[in-house]
Amino acid sequence: MTPQDASVAAAKTCLLAPVVPVLVIDDASTAADLARALVAGGLPALEVTLRTPAALEAIRQMAAVPGGVVGAGTLLTPKDVEDAKAAGATFGVSPGATDILLDACEANDLPLLPGTATASEAMRLLERGYTVQKFFPAEANGGAPALKAIGAPLPQVKFCPTGGVNLRNARDYLGLSNTLCVGGSWVAPKDKVVAGDWAGITALAKEAAALS
Ligand code: 3PG
Repeated sequence: MTPQDASVAAAKTCLLAPVVPVLVIDDASTAADLARALVAGGLPALEVTLRTPAALEAIRQMAAVPGGVVGAGTLLTPKDVEDAKAAGATFGVSPGATDILLDACEANDLPLLPGTATASEAMRLLERGYTVQKFFPAEANGGAPALKAIGAPLPQVKFCPTGGVNLRNARDYLGLSNTLCVGGSWVAPKDKVVAGDWAGITALAKEAAALS
């Protein structure tokens, strides 16, 4: 898959809803219920971070949930890419971008939303053909004002800011012309997942889906 095709696919995923839930899953047996709760609330695109032993099984379970579009986050290595793809992930997200990782995603036909934090990093990805990127960590890098400033010289790059984004500040990003959606973990708080409070998570998802 070319970087251009990956960017088209990543943009489509980002435009499904204003928020992509970023999920750190400890127990794969909660994954399908969690996915159903988020999809029911209007958030179909789900990023499962490869940070827990349960992550790949969680992706397998979530990929079977109707209406869900499940991706793998925290992709760092070619093995991560192969494992994510085999588990059923249909997109990938990474905190940064290396040539080895980009090569692996392109070779495995996994559309990647590659992470970037500076204008130089965004330019390097743009040179390779990636016009859709994740701005990470968004709040720590200056938040919406910084992303807006990057958009002045680089309007052709669109972003999914992630990292420190929440219900309070999401609109600051979503109002920018270079922001397609935001990523965030606030829609799936650990206590609600552990308690099996799926109705509560659907309520949070609805609130997030109504952001614009
Ligand atoms: C992460 O690193 O887990 C993601 O960027 C999500 O960050 P958040 O927990 O601040 O939403």
